Amino acid sequence: MRNYDLDFLKKFSLVIGFLVLVTLGLQFLAYHLNKAIPPEVSQVALQRTQSRIAPLGAVYAGATGAAAQAAAASAAAASAASQVAYGGTKDGSVIFGNLCTGCHTSGAGGAPTLDAAHWSARIAQGKDTLYKHAIEGFHGAAGVMPPKGGNPALSEDQVKATVDWMVSQVK
Ligand code: HEC
Repeated sequence: MRNYDLDFLKKFSLVIGFLVLVTLGLQFLAYHLNKAIPPEVSQVALQRTQSRIAPLGAVYAGATGAAAQAAAASAAAASAASQVAYGGTKDGSVIFGNLCTGCHTSGAGGAPTLDAAHWSARIAQGKDTLYKHAIEGFHGAAGVMPPKGGNPALSEDQVKATVDWMVSQVK
């Protein structure tokens, strides 16, 4: 072998060796990146999975069911709208005379009758507390005041008007 052939072989194998190193480095880098990046879930595969695990069957009441439901809902809404207690009056004396008097005139169940002895301490709590107790109900030392006097059809404004009237009647 001639001298320059040896020289060529040396340089050539150096280049080949270098290229092998680069290849290994790239492979290692690719492997590393592949592990570091989270795998992407294909939308198609996701849909397929969803359809596989979807519950079998559903309740279908048919057109009649839907119509009946709508009719019932509108009937319920209509009856709720027509449920205005005592014609929607804001006259406290009327509401008191129809409902609250059952307890607050006789003192049944410990209800405070409309006299100062029963009411001065209650009035001192402030109107907001009286409203709150009359609307939400109240269980105090004397007894149980039911929410809205036991008639949930009363509006909050009606209850407030009645409380105002009661307080004005306390002697
Ligand atoms: C079932 C009987 C009953 C009816 C009906 C009733 N109340 Fe009472 N109410 C009570 C009792 C009992 C108390 C006393 C609660 C206590 O202090 O322990 C009370 C207390 C109150 C108080 C005072 C609350 C406080 O903080 O001291 C107000 C205000 C009141 N009632 C308003 C009304 C109004 C307005 C109505 C009618 C819409 C009404 N009540 C109907 C039993 C009744």
